[in-house]
Amino acid sequence: MKKILVTGAAGFIGSNFVRRVLDLRPDWEILVVDALTYAGNLENLSGLKEKHGARYRFERADIRKTEDVEKVLRDEKFDGVFHFAAESHVDRSILGPLTFVETNVLGTVNLLEAVRKYQDIAGTRFLHISTDEVYGALGKDGFFTETTPLNPSSPYSASKASSDMFVLAYHRTYRLDTVITRCCNNYGPLQFPEKLIPFMIKRALYGEPLPVYGDGKNVRDWIHVDDHNDGTLLAFEKGKPGEVYNLGSRCEKNNIEIVTLIIEKLSALMREREDFRTPEIAFVKDRPGHDFRYAIDPAKAESELGFSPAVSFEDGMERTVRWYLENRGWWEKIISGEYMEFVKKLYGEKG
Ligand code: NAD
Ligand code: DAU
Repeated sequence: MKKILVTGAAGFIGSNFVRRVLDLRPDWEILVVDALTYAGNLENLSGLKEKHGARYRFERADIRKTEDVEKVLRDEKFDGVFHFAAESHVDRSILGPLTFVETNVLGTVNLLEAVRKYQDIAGTRFLHISTDEVYGALGKDGFFTETTPLNPSSPYSASKASSDMFVLAYHRTYRLDTVITRCCNNYGPLQFPEKLIPFMIKRALYGEPLPVYGDGKNVRDWIHVDDHNDGTLLAFEKGKPGEVYNLGSRCEKNNIEIVTLIIEKLSALMREREDFRTPEIAFVKDRPGHDFRYAIDPAKAESELGFSPAVSFEDGMERTVRWYLENRGWWEKIISGEYMEFVKKLYGEKG
Protein backbone atom coordinates (compact mmCIF):
# COMPACT_ATOMS: atom_id res chain seq x y z
CA MET A 1 0.00 0.00 0.00
CA LYS A 2 1.15 3.55 -0.78
CA LYS A 3 0.26 6.16 1.83
CA ILE A 4 -0.88 9.46 0.38
CA LEU A 5 -1.77 12.73 2.12
CA VAL A 6 -4.15 15.06 0.28
CA THR A 7 -4.79 18.61 1.55
CA GLY A 8 -7.89 20.62 0.70
CA ALA A 9 -9.86 17.68 -0.68
CA ALA A 10 -13.20 18.81 0.72
CA GLY A 11 -13.12 21.47 -2.02
CA PHE A 12 -13.91 21.24 -5.72
CA ILE A 13 -10.82 19.83 -7.41
CA GLY A 14 -9.45 17.86 -4.45
CA SER A 15 -12.71 16.00 -3.82
CA ASN A 16 -12.99 15.05 -7.49
CA PHE A 17 -9.34 13.92 -7.30
CA VAL A 18 -9.78 11.69 -4.25
CA ARG A 19 -12.95 10.11 -5.66
CA ARG A 20 -11.14 9.34 -8.91
CA VAL A 21 -7.84 8.16 -7.49
CA LEU A 22 -9.28 5.79 -4.89
CA ASP A 23 -10.86 3.96 -7.86
CA LEU A 24 -7.85 4.22 -10.18
CA ARG A 25 -5.19 3.25 -7.63
CA PRO A 26 -6.41 0.32 -5.48
CA ASP A 27 -2.99 0.17 -3.78
CA TRP A 28 -3.27 3.73 -2.39
CA GLU A 29 -4.63 4.69 0.97
CA ILE A 30 -5.48 8.34 1.38
CA LEU A 31 -5.62 10.66 4.36
CA VAL A 32 -7.50 13.87 3.55
CA VAL A 33 -6.85 16.93 5.69
CA ASP A 34 -8.99 20.01 5.30
CA ALA A 35 -9.91 22.98 7.50
CA LEU A 36 -13.50 22.96 6.17
CA THR A 37 -13.58 26.66 5.37
CA TYR A 38 -16.63 28.08 3.57
CA ALA A 39 -15.35 26.25 0.44
CA GLY A 40 -14.83 22.87 2.06
CA ASN A 41 -17.81 20.54 2.17
CA LEU A 42 -17.78 17.07 3.73
CA GLU A 43 -20.67 16.12 1.49
CA ASN A 44 -18.18 16.23 -1.41
CA LEU A 45 -16.49 13.23 0.19
CA SER A 46 -19.61 11.35 1.20
CA GLY A 47 -19.75 7.60 0.59
CA LEU A 48 -15.95 7.18 0.42
CA LYS A 49 -15.63 5.54 3.85
CA GLU A 50 -18.42 3.11 3.00
CA LYS A 51 -16.91 2.33 -0.42
CA HIS A 52 -13.21 2.19 0.44
CA GLY A 53 -13.10 1.45 4.18
CA ALA A 54 -9.68 2.06 5.78
CA ARG A 55 -8.23 3.23 2.44
CA TYR A 56 -9.95 6.58 3.05
CA ARG A 57 -9.60 8.71 6.18
CA PHE A 58 -10.45 12.34 6.95
CA GLU A 59 -8.97 14.66 9.56
CA ARG A 60 -9.85 18.26 10.12
CA ALA A 61 -6.65 20.35 10.12
CA ASP A 62 -5.81 23.95 9.32
CA ILE A 63 -2.55 24.30 7.40
CA ARG A 64 -2.10 27.79 8.83
CA LYS A 65 -1.51 26.15 12.23
CA THR A 66 1.91 24.56 12.71
CA GLU A 67 0.58 22.27 15.45
CA ASP A 68 -2.17 20.91 13.16
CA VAL A 69 0.28 20.22 10.35
CA GLU A 70 2.91 18.67 12.63
CA LYS A 71 0.33 16.40 14.23
CA VAL A 72 -0.52 14.98 10.81
CA LEU A 73 3.04 14.53 9.55
CA ARG A 74 4.90 13.60 12.77
CA ASP A 75 3.79 10.04 13.37
CA GLU A 76 2.98 8.67 9.95
CA LYS A 77 5.19 8.28 6.86
CA PHE A 78 3.69 9.25 3.51
CA ASP A 79 4.86 8.33 0.00
CA GLY A 80 3.29 11.49 -1.35
CA VAL A 81 1.56 14.74 -0.51
CA PHE A 82 -0.91 16.34 -2.93
CA HIS A 83 -1.32 19.95 -1.86
CA PHE A 84 -4.68 21.30 -3.08
CA ALA A 85 -5.62 23.36 0.01
CA ALA A 86 -5.85 27.06 -0.75
CA GLU A 87 -8.00 30.11 -0.73
CA SER A 88 -8.94 29.97 -4.40
CA HIS A 89 -11.25 32.83 -5.35
CA VAL A 90 -9.77 35.92 -7.01
CA ASP A 91 -12.66 38.25 -6.07
CA ARG A 92 -12.40 37.29 -2.38
CA SER A 93 -8.65 37.97 -2.51
CA ILE A 94 -9.36 41.48 -3.76
CA LEU A 95 -11.74 42.08 -0.84
CA GLY A 96 -9.32 40.64 1.73
CA PRO A 97 -5.80 39.51 0.79
CA LEU A 98 -4.53 38.48 4.23
CA THR A 99 -6.25 35.08 4.47
CA PHE A 100 -4.71 34.30 1.09
CA VAL A 101 -1.23 35.02 2.43
CA GLU A 102 -1.92 33.01 5.58
CA THR A 103 -3.27 29.90 3.83
CA ASN A 104 -1.53 29.93 0.47
CA VAL A 105 1.89 31.16 1.56
CA LEU A 106 2.27 30.42 5.27
CA GLY A 107 0.14 27.26 5.06
CA THR A 108 2.26 25.90 2.21
CA VAL A 109 5.50 26.68 4.06
CA ASN A 110 4.11 25.01 7.20
CA LEU A 111 3.51 21.87 5.17
CA LEU A 112 6.93 21.99 3.50
CA GLU A 113 8.59 22.44 6.91
CA ALA A 114 6.73 19.48 8.42
CA VAL A 115 7.65 17.29 5.44
CA ARG A 116 11.29 18.37 5.81
CA LYS A 117 11.28 17.65 9.54
CA TYR A 118 9.31 14.44 9.77
CA GLN A 119 9.27 12.72 6.38
CA ASP A 120 11.86 10.95 4.28
CA ILE A 121 13.22 13.80 2.10
CA ALA A 122 13.84 11.59 -0.92
CA GLY A 123 10.88 9.26 -0.37
CA THR A 124 8.01 11.71 -0.01
CA ARG A 125 7.01 13.40 -3.24
CA PHE A 126 5.39 16.82 -2.74
CA LEU A 127 2.97 17.64 -5.56
CA HIS A 128 2.04 21.32 -5.41
CA ILE A 129 -1.14 22.27 -7.27
CA SER A 130 -0.64 25.73 -8.70
CA THR A 131 -2.33 27.83 -11.36
CA ASP A 132 -1.70 29.53 -14.70
CA GLU A 133 -2.65 32.82 -12.99
CA VAL A 134 0.90 33.09 -11.61
CA TYR A 135 2.05 34.09 -15.11
CA GLY A 136 -0.20 37.17 -15.21
CA ALA A 137 -2.08 38.30 -18.30
CA LEU A 138 -1.49 37.56 -22.00
CA GLY A 139 -2.47 39.88 -24.83
CA LYS A 140 -4.26 38.54 -27.92
CA ASP A 141 -1.31 36.30 -28.90
CA GLY A 142 1.08 33.85 -27.28
CA PHE A 143 0.90 31.11 -24.66
CA PHE A 144 2.19 30.43 -21.16
CA THR A 145 5.08 27.98 -21.09
CA GLU A 146 6.88 26.78 -17.96
CA THR A 147 9.59 29.39 -18.59
CA THR A 148 7.21 32.36 -18.83
CA PRO A 149 8.23 34.74 -16.01
CA LEU A 150 5.89 34.90 -13.03
CA ASN A 151 3.97 38.18 -13.10
CA PRO A 152 0.87 37.78 -10.93
CA SER A 153 -1.89 40.42 -10.91
CA SER A 154 -4.27 39.63 -8.04
CA PRO A 155 -3.56 38.99 -4.36
CA TYR A 156 -4.68 35.39 -5.04
CA SER A 157 -2.21 34.85 -7.85
CA ALA A 158 0.55 36.68 -5.96
CA SER A 159 0.04 34.30 -3.03
CA LYS A 160 0.11 31.28 -5.34
CA ALA A 161 3.27 32.54 -7.09
CA SER A 162 4.87 33.01 -3.69
CA SER A 163 3.97 29.46 -2.64
CA ASP A 164 5.45 28.16 -5.91
CA MET A 165 8.70 29.96 -5.08
CA PHE A 166 8.84 28.33 -1.66
CA VAL A 167 8.25 24.89 -3.16
CA LEU A 168 11.11 25.47 -5.63
CA ALA A 169 13.31 26.81 -2.81
CA TYR A 170 12.71 23.67 -0.71
CA HIS A 171 13.73 21.55 -3.68
CA ARG A 172 16.90 23.51 -4.32
CA THR A 173 17.89 24.04 -0.69
CA TYR A 174 16.78 20.83 1.04
CA ARG A 175 16.46 18.49 -1.99
CA LEU A 176 12.81 17.90 -1.25
CA ASP A 177 11.23 15.85 -4.06
CA THR A 178 8.80 18.45 -5.39
CA VAL A 179 6.72 18.75 -8.57
CA ILE A 180 4.54 21.76 -9.44
CA THR A 181 1.57 21.71 -11.81
CA ARG A 182 0.04 24.91 -13.18
CA CYS A 183 -3.41 24.35 -14.61
CA CYS A 184 -5.94 26.59 -16.32
CA ASN A 185 -9.62 27.18 -15.36
CA ASN A 186 -11.40 24.02 -14.23
CA TYR A 187 -15.07 23.21 -14.63
CA GLY A 188 -17.18 20.22 -13.56
CA PRO A 189 -19.25 18.93 -10.64
CA LEU A 190 -18.84 20.10 -7.03
CA GLN A 191 -17.47 23.57 -7.83
CA PHE A 192 -18.39 26.20 -5.25
CA PRO A 193 -21.09 28.46 -6.74
CA GLU A 194 -18.98 31.61 -6.59
CA LYS A 195 -16.94 30.65 -9.69
CA LEU A 196 -18.16 31.72 -13.14
CA ILE A 197 -19.93 28.58 -14.39
CA PRO A 198 -21.87 27.37 -11.30
CA PHE A 199 -22.52 30.99 -10.29
CA MET A 200 -24.18 31.78 -13.62
CA ILE A 201 -26.20 28.54 -13.55
CA LYS A 202 -27.47 29.37 -10.06
CA ARG A 203 -28.41 32.94 -11.05
CA ALA A 204 -30.16 31.77 -14.20
CA LEU A 205 -32.24 29.27 -12.23
CA TYR A 206 -33.23 32.03 -9.79
CA GLY A 207 -34.26 34.28 -12.68
CA GLU A 208 -31.52 36.80 -11.87
CA PRO A 209 -29.45 38.74 -14.42
CA LEU A 210 -26.03 37.30 -15.20
CA PRO A 211 -23.31 39.79 -14.18
CA VAL A 212 -20.50 39.78 -16.72
CA TYR A 213 -17.45 41.87 -15.77
CA GLY A 214 -16.39 44.63 -18.17
CA ASP A 215 -17.14 43.86 -21.82
CA GLY A 216 -17.05 40.07 -21.34
CA LYS A 217 -14.17 39.68 -23.82
CA ASN A 218 -11.67 38.36 -21.26
CA VAL A 219 -10.42 34.93 -22.26
CA ARG A 220 -9.96 31.89 -20.04
CA ASP A 221 -8.59 28.49 -21.01
CA TRP A 222 -10.96 25.73 -19.80
CA ILE A 223 -10.36 22.12 -18.76
CA HIS A 224 -12.63 19.49 -17.24
CA VAL A 225 -11.68 18.75 -13.64
CA ASP A 226 -11.14 15.03 -14.44
CA ASP A 227 -8.55 15.92 -17.08
CA HIS A 228 -6.78 18.23 -14.62
CA ASN A 229 -6.75 15.45 -12.04
CA ASP A 230 -5.41 12.89 -14.53
CA GLY A 231 -2.62 15.35 -15.32
CA THR A 232 -1.89 15.79 -11.62
CA LEU A 233 -1.62 12.03 -11.19
CA LEU A 234 0.73 11.76 -14.19
CA ALA A 235 2.89 14.57 -12.83
CA PHE A 236 3.13 12.73 -9.51
CA GLU A 237 4.01 9.40 -11.11
CA LYS A 238 6.15 10.51 -14.05
CA GLY A 239 7.27 14.09 -13.33
CA LYS A 240 10.93 14.89 -12.68
CA PRO A 241 11.94 16.27 -9.26
CA GLY A 242 12.00 20.07 -9.12
CA GLU A 243 10.07 20.45 -12.40
CA VAL A 244 7.00 22.50 -13.31
CA TYR A 245 4.31 21.21 -15.71
CA ASN A 246 1.61 23.37 -17.31
CA LEU A 247 -1.73 21.58 -17.70
CA GLY A 248 -4.37 22.72 -20.17
CA SER A 249 -6.52 21.41 -22.98
CA ARG A 250 -6.18 24.15 -25.61
CA CYS A 251 -9.71 25.41 -25.06
CA GLU A 252 -9.86 29.21 -25.02
CA LYS A 253 -13.25 30.89 -24.61
CA ASN A 254 -14.19 34.43 -23.75
CA ASN A 255 -16.64 34.99 -20.91
CA ILE A 256 -19.52 35.95 -23.17
CA GLU A 257 -19.14 32.65 -25.03
CA ILE A 258 -19.31 30.75 -21.74
CA VAL A 259 -22.33 32.63 -20.42
CA THR A 260 -24.15 32.36 -23.77
CA LEU A 261 -23.49 28.60 -23.83
CA ILE A 262 -24.92 28.24 -20.32
CA ILE A 263 -28.05 30.15 -21.36
CA GLU A 264 -28.45 27.94 -24.44
CA LYS A 265 -27.97 24.70 -22.54
CA LEU A 266 -30.30 25.68 -19.72
CA SER A 267 -32.95 26.92 -22.14
CA ALA A 268 -32.86 23.56 -23.94
CA LEU A 269 -32.93 21.51 -20.75
CA MET A 270 -35.66 23.64 -19.12
CA ARG A 271 -37.85 24.15 -22.20
CA GLU A 272 -40.80 22.36 -20.64
CA ARG A 273 -40.65 24.33 -17.40
CA GLU A 274 -43.03 27.26 -17.51
CA ASP A 275 -41.32 28.96 -14.57
CA PHE A 276 -38.00 29.25 -16.50
CA ARG A 277 -37.30 32.57 -18.22
CA THR A 278 -34.31 33.09 -20.50
CA PRO A 279 -31.87 35.07 -18.32
CA GLU A 280 -30.44 38.40 -19.34
CA ILE A 281 -26.77 39.30 -19.39
CA ALA A 282 -25.87 42.40 -17.34
CA PHE A 283 -22.51 44.02 -18.02
CA VAL A 284 -21.18 45.17 -14.64
CA LYS A 285 -18.13 47.00 -13.28
CA ASP A 286 -14.92 45.20 -14.22
CA ARG A 287 -12.83 43.23 -11.73
CA PRO A 288 -9.88 45.41 -10.63
CA GLY A 289 -6.66 44.19 -12.29
CA HIS A 290 -8.72 41.77 -14.43
CA ASP A 291 -6.27 39.65 -16.47
CA PHE A 292 -7.21 39.84 -20.16
CA ARG A 293 -6.29 36.38 -21.36
CA TYR A 294 -4.90 33.06 -20.12
CA ALA A 295 -3.72 30.34 -22.53
CA ILE A 296 -1.65 27.32 -21.58
CA ASP A 297 0.89 25.59 -23.78
CA PRO A 298 0.73 22.01 -22.42
CA ALA A 299 3.41 20.62 -24.79
CA LYS A 300 5.85 19.71 -22.00
CA ALA A 301 3.22 17.71 -20.07
CA GLU A 302 2.12 16.04 -23.31
CA SER A 303 5.61 14.96 -24.34
CA GLU A 304 7.17 14.20 -20.93
CA LEU A 305 4.15 12.85 -19.04
CA GLY A 306 1.93 11.55 -21.86
CA PHE A 307 -0.77 14.00 -20.78
CA SER A 308 -3.76 13.92 -23.13
CA PRO A 309 -7.06 15.47 -22.00
CA ALA A 310 -10.03 13.25 -22.86
CA VAL A 311 -13.14 15.39 -22.24
CA SER A 312 -14.35 17.63 -25.07
CA PHE A 313 -15.65 21.04 -24.00
CA GLU A 314 -19.04 20.38 -25.59
CA ASP A 315 -19.58 17.09 -23.77
CA GLY A 316 -18.01 18.32 -20.52
CA MET A 317 -20.25 21.42 -20.40
CA GLU A 318 -23.37 19.41 -21.25
CA ARG A 319 -22.65 17.06 -18.33
CA THR A 320 -21.73 19.94 -16.04
CA VAL A 321 -24.89 21.97 -16.64
CA ARG A 322 -26.98 18.82 -16.13
CA TRP A 323 -25.11 18.05 -12.89
CA TYR A 324 -25.97 21.45 -11.35
CA LEU A 325 -29.60 21.04 -12.44
CA GLU A 326 -29.83 17.56 -10.96
CA ASN A 327 -27.95 18.47 -7.78
CA ARG A 328 -29.73 21.67 -6.86
CA GLY A 329 -29.92 20.50 -3.23
CA TRP A 330 -26.11 20.39 -3.06
CA TRP A 331 -25.57 24.05 -3.95
CA GLU A 332 -28.71 25.38 -2.28
CA LYS A 333 -27.54 23.95 1.06
CA ILE A 334 -24.17 25.67 0.67
CA ILE A 335 -25.57 29.06 -0.13
CA SER A 336 -28.23 28.90 2.56
CA GLY A 337 -25.56 28.51 5.21
CA GLU A 338 -27.11 25.25 6.35
CA TYR A 339 -23.87 23.46 5.67
CA MET A 340 -21.94 25.80 7.96
CA GLU A 341 -24.44 25.06 10.72
CA PHE A 342 -23.89 21.37 10.14
CA VAL A 343 -20.13 21.71 10.51
CA LYS A 344 -20.58 23.65 13.76
CA LYS A 345 -22.88 20.94 15.05
CA LEU A 346 -20.49 18.17 14.07
CA TYR A 347 -17.26 19.72 15.32
CA GLY A 348 -18.39 22.40 17.79
CA GLU A 349 -17.77 26.15 17.42
CA LYS A 350 -13.96 25.88 17.15
CA GLY A 351 -13.84 22.59 15.25
P1 NAD B 1 -11.77 25.31 -3.44
O1 NAD B 1 -11.84 26.69 -2.91
O2 NAD B 1 -12.98 24.68 -4.03
O3 NAD B 1 -11.28 24.33 -2.26
C1 NAD B 1 -10.22 24.67 -1.40
C2 NAD B 1 -10.20 23.67 -0.25
O4 NAD B 1 -9.10 24.01 0.60
C3 NAD B 1 -11.46 23.68 0.61
O5 NAD B 1 -11.86 22.36 0.91
C4 NAD B 1 -11.03 24.40 1.87
O6 NAD B 1 -11.74 24.01 3.04
C5 NAD B 1 -9.55 24.02 1.95
N1 NAD B 1 -8.77 24.99 2.72
C6 NAD B 1 -8.76 26.33 2.58
N2 NAD B 1 -7.97 26.90 3.52
C7 NAD B 1 -7.46 25.87 4.25
C8 NAD B 1 -6.56 25.80 5.36
N3 NAD B 1 -6.07 26.91 5.92
N4 NAD B 1 -6.22 24.58 5.85
C9 NAD B 1 -6.74 23.44 5.27
N5 NAD B 1 -7.61 23.45 4.26
C10 NAD B 1 -7.96 24.65 3.73
O7 NAD B 1 -10.56 25.31 -4.45
P2 NAD B 1 -10.35 24.47 -5.81
O8 NAD B 1 -10.96 25.23 -6.91
O9 NAD B 1 -10.70 23.07 -5.57
O10 NAD B 1 -8.76 24.62 -5.97
C11 NAD B 1 -7.88 23.64 -5.41
C12 NAD B 1 -6.45 24.01 -5.77
O11 NAD B 1 -6.30 24.07 -7.19
C13 NAD B 1 -6.01 25.39 -5.26
O12 NAD B 1 -4.68 25.29 -4.83
C14 NAD B 1 -6.12 26.29 -6.47
O13 NAD B 1 -5.21 27.35 -6.39
C15 NAD B 1 -5.75 25.32 -7.57
N6 NAD B 1 -6.29 25.62 -8.91
C16 NAD B 1 -7.63 25.84 -9.07
C17 NAD B 1 -8.14 26.05 -10.36
C18 NAD B 1 -9.62 26.25 -10.59
O14 NAD B 1 -10.01 26.53 -11.72
N7 NAD B 1 -10.48 26.11 -9.61
C19 NAD B 1 -7.27 26.04 -11.47
C20 NAD B 1 -5.89 25.83 -11.25
C21 NAD B 1 -5.43 25.61 -9.97
O1 DAU C 1 -6.87 30.13 -14.19
C1 DAU C 1 -6.99 29.31 -13.06
C2 DAU C 1 -7.81 30.01 -12.01
O2 DAU C 1 -9.17 30.00 -12.46
C3 DAU C 1 -7.70 29.36 -10.63
O3 DAU C 1 -6.38 29.48 -10.18
C4 DAU C 1 -8.66 30.02 -9.63
O4 DAU C 1 -8.63 29.33 -8.40
C5 DAU C 1 -10.06 29.96 -10.21
O5 DAU C 1 -10.97 30.62 -9.34
C6 DAU C 1 -10.11 30.58 -11.59
O6 DAU C 1 -9.90 32.02 -11.52
P1 DAU C 1 -10.74 33.04 -12.43
O7 DAU C 1 -10.67 34.38 -11.82
O8 DAU C 1 -10.36 32.90 -13.86
O9 DAU C 1 -12.20 32.37 -12.24
P2 DAU C 1 -13.64 32.99 -12.00
O10 DAU C 1 -14.61 31.86 -12.13
O11 DAU C 1 -13.72 33.82 -10.78
O12 DAU C 1 -13.83 33.95 -13.26
C7 DAU C 1 -13.71 33.48 -14.59
C8 DAU C 1 -13.88 34.66 -15.54
O13 DAU C 1 -15.24 35.12 -15.45
C9 DAU C 1 -13.03 35.87 -15.17
O14 DAU C 1 -12.59 36.51 -16.37
C10 DAU C 1 -13.97 36.78 -14.40
C11 DAU C 1 -15.30 36.49 -15.05
N1 DAU C 1 -16.48 36.63 -14.17
C12 DAU C 1 -16.51 35.91 -13.02
C13 DAU C 1 -17.59 36.02 -12.16
C14 DAU C 1 -17.63 35.22 -10.86
C15 DAU C 1 -17.55 37.46 -14.55
O15 DAU C 1 -17.52 38.09 -15.62
N2 DAU C 1 -18.60 37.55 -13.70
C16 DAU C 1 -18.67 36.89 -12.52
O16 DAU C 1 -19.68 37.05 -11.78
